[in-house]
Amino acid sequence: MRIRQSLVTGGAGFIGSNLCRALAARGERVRVLDNFSTGHRENLAGVEVELIEGDAADLATARRAAEGVECVFHQAAVPSVPRSMREPLASHRACATATLTMLEAARQAGVRRFVYAGSSSAYGDTPTLPKIESMPPDPRSPYAAAKLAGETYCRMYHHAYGLETVALRYFNIFGPYQDPGSPYSGVLAIFITRLLAGQPCVIYGDGETSRDFTYIENVVQANLLAREAPQASGQVYNIGCGRRVTLNWVYDFLAGELKVNLRPRYEAARPGDVRSSLADIQAAGRELGYMPQVQVEAGLRATIAWYRRAPEGV
Ligand SMILES: NC(=O)c1ccc[n+]([C@@H]2O[C@H](COP(=O)([O-])OP(=O)(O)OC[C@H]3O[C@@H](n4cnc5c(N)ncnc54)[C@H](O)[C@@H]3O)[C@@H](O)[C@H]2O)c1
Repeated sequence: MRIRQSLVTGGAGFIGSNLCRALAARGERVRVLDNFSTGHRENLAGVEVELIEGDAADLATARRAAEGVECVFHQAAVPSVPRSMREPLASHRACATATLTMLEAARQAGVRRFVYAGSSSAYGDTPTLPKIESMPPDPRSPYAAAKLAGETYCRMYHHAYGLETVALRYFNIFGPYQDPGSPYSGVLAIFITRLLAGQPCVIYGDGETSRDFTYIENVVQANLLAREAPQASGQVYNIGCGRRVTLNWVYDFLAGELKVNLRPRYEAARPGDVRSSLADIQAAGRELGYMPQVQVEAGLRATIAWYRRAPEGV
């Protein structure tokens, strides 16, 4: 039997490294393309991958990475709304240009399927919940606009070139290997590591901001399904849990689990951040067979356990 060869761009990042671990555990060949702008080599410690260090927005590098690959899981991006507000051109390059370049490389290399990490930020701040794929997108930050442009290019490559593309709109993913170490990091990674260190946390806004926080295992499952689903090419699917919780709820849950008695500090809401987010996941259920296996409480407990064990500096 032929061993499957995949490419994971951004494979040294949080989501990419978890995906690499899952693919390698299935005995598949995994190649990673990463420029280490936000990812870390240590995230791939103990995982058998072929590593190409380079920029996904560079066509020659992208071509080399896509050669002989059956499926590209395109995770590479600089995933931060506030950072994109400060650096819109850099955000466009890392999110939109890199996606177009990888699509073109995949087309030239004869890749069968291209699974794209989209973002729920594409929906913007519409008050209607849950967010459903048929809603008109309304990006409110350079990051959201660039991620949406990536989706548009995916759909276009499906129609214009017959490359099978599937876009997954992730809703606030959390879990092991998420980097807590920058002001742009995901909020749960920051909360958990600060509370473990007995340090206070900042909540931007009144804490009633809500999110469909989704544990990483669910996202890995969605990617593996999206690689196979026969009707999925050219489509966009929400990937979340279909349940939203507020930052105040998450904070209280974590403080309770960790038995920490520290109140959060509230600061002004950040520009570009959306107020509420909740995924309608029926389309992913119907067409990909996606069903979240790990709910938010179990995911938070597993993430706490991982950060307790994680080596110093992670
Ligand atoms: N984490 C979330 O909640 C979330 C939500 C929605 C969408 N996403 C999307 O999921 C993907 C992965 O996000 P993550 O949370 O794992 O972020 P991450 O920062 O941990 O991983 C991104 C990886 O991409 C690499 N990278 C960035 N630009 C690159 C380039 N030009 N060439 C090669 N490699 C490059 C980084 O070094 C890093 O390893 C991103 O596309 C992001 O937009 C994430």
